[in-house]
Amino acid sequence: MAIRNIREIGDAVLNKKCKEVKEMTPRIRELVEDMLETMYEACGVGLAAPQVGILKRIVVIDVTGEDPYVMINPRILETSGEQTGQEGCLSVPGKSGIVTRPNYVKAVAYNENMEQYEIEATELLARAICHELDHLEGDLYVDKVEGPLMDVADLEDEEEE
Ligand code: NI
Repeated sequence: MAIRNIREIGDAVLNKKCKEVKEMTPRIRELVEDMLETMYEACGVGLAAPQVGILKRIVVIDVTGEDPYVMINPRILETSGEQTGQEGCLSVPGKSGIVTRPNYVKAVAYNENMEQYEIEATELLARAICHELDHLEGDLYVDKVEGPLMDVADLEDEEEE
């Protein structure tokens, strides 16, 4: 396993649409393992393959730190409700902004063994699924932010005051 370089906003790879994974191969298995390791090392709750420069429909998500989801060729089947809150992205370091997302998401994806599964998620996990799946379309959360994109350092100062 290896930590991969996380691409940052302005890198054209982040604005491209990703291709479906047709079959699991040793290379893709290694990519998935590296994505998990890279996400944990960066203290992120999710990472999409284009963020490490690979235009494939693969995301990893772990909002609890102990329950990773590998989502290959993920598709959202159903959404409902609404949540408005802070969002950030490992490809937009040091920034945060308010984004409204569905509060419930039902999705279907394949795991690292290419077994199909469904996932129902609410709150942070639902937000993470929406955010990561956007990456596969070449979309970044900064285009959905309500109000200004803020510096995380300023937000931390506010909390201390
Ligand atoms: Ni992101």
